[in-house]
Amino acid sequence: MPVENSRLSGFFKLSVNDRRKLVQNLSGITNEHLEALSSNGELSDEAADRMIENVIGTMSLPVGVATNFVIDDKHYLIPFCLEESSVVAAASNMAKRCLKNGGFRTQNDAPLMIGQVQILECPNIEMAMKNIHEAKDEIISLCNSLPSTMIKLGGGCKRLETRIIDTMSGQMLILHIIVDCRDAMGANAVNTMAELIAPEIERLTGGRVHLKILSNLAAHRLARVEAIFTPEELSNDGTTENGAEIIRGILEAHHFAIADPFRATTHNKGVMNAISSVAVACGQDWRAIEAGCHSWASFSKSHYTSMTEWELDNDGNLVGKIETPMAVGIVGGASRVHPTAKANLAILGVDSANELAGIICSAGLAQNLGALRALATSGIQAGHMKLHSRNMAVSAGAIGEEIEKVASRLQAHSGPKTQTAVKKILESLRNE
Ligand code: MEV
Repeated sequence: MPVENSRLSGFFKLSVNDRRKLVQNLSGITNEHLEALSSNGELSDEAADRMIENVIGTMSLPVGVATNFVIDDKHYLIPFCLEESSVVAAASNMAKRCLKNGGFRTQNDAPLMIGQVQILECPNIEMAMKNIHEAKDEIISLCNSLPSTMIKLGGGCKRLETRIIDTMSGQMLILHIIVDCRDAMGANAVNTMAELIAPEIERLTGGRVHLKILSNLAAHRLARVEAIFTPEELSNDGTTENGAEIIRGILEAHHFAIADPFRATTHNKGVMNAISSVAVACGQDWRAIEAGCHSWASFSKSHYTSMTEWELDNDGNLVGKIETPMAVGIVGGASRVHPTAKANLAILGVDSANELAGIICSAGLAQNLGALRALATSGIQAGHMKLHSRNMAVSAGAIGEEIEKVASRLQAHSGPKTQTAVKKILESLRNE
């Protein structure tokens, strides 16, 4: 079920177990989900062995929830699965900074995937293309003859596209089958359809069908997200002046990414810090998503560029936008098999793949702003140092409330932040 309020002040101060329990209370996840999130929920050898070949074990990564997200008027706690510090904190922080204007707004395409059929050696390529278009109803029906729940639910092949491309192996006719995958990512169904129609395509074109495979450039399955951040929300001190200065810095950083592929790659890595982590947490094919996102960042553009857009509106607010392919599913695949992925989807309480796509993109947009804001102000290391200080406090023996106190004193400490320094800080705290 959806959480009523994603604003959880002091959440970070709770123990891992208490956070898990609170998330269970808020999202209504089952005890089985709770178990999956705890270390008891590791994937069993048997389950792992069914997923891939030559299994020798499993490997775990932390799952943290980002707070403060309001997307299309609904509150979300968003699970991230990754090893990098500051990412979850930055996303939560930025999500809080657009609440005045209602949080994030999404506008997504229907869940249409592309299956490619590569046709070679057509005796007359123009005629082959014409024959395909004349037989389009028959080809679409053949695709949809597949026994599939997705088709029963109103999905399936909807239309065809053809392209002629020049390649080092000569001209090729490329057929795209456009398939509505409903709540599935759709790779299996699309690949099966592409293989199913191959003999008929050879008959119609007189050519030889070679590759039959889904395209990860899901250009008809774009997710779009927009959010408005006021200068006051983006400021350090609540003033419009400070906020306007920070916005100027963010825009300068963004313009750098638009113009320069070297910077755009790092800028987009920041976006993917969230997109990939939420995708992993929810059992998605994150490699497919990454390939699609990066490809879209240079598709129809003069060079690889920023995945996000940032601009000023007439009131001096910062408006952020992202539009990117987002091929995700909530039925089938790891999202339905992996116990922790199931738990994470339950925390989100999503009803459709489209909803999940909007959440993932909102997290990406927030993450990007977090990085730009940090880079344009205090630099990126300050955030990393916060968690590092907490880790140092723990390894020096701090427990409970001592951890935060030691960590903040360590950050304020002007000398070298060594283990000896932390131990001294802890000692003097205990003597107070
Ligand atoms: C680090 O994981 C991500 C950043 O490099 C992104 C950026 O530079 O925009 C901070």
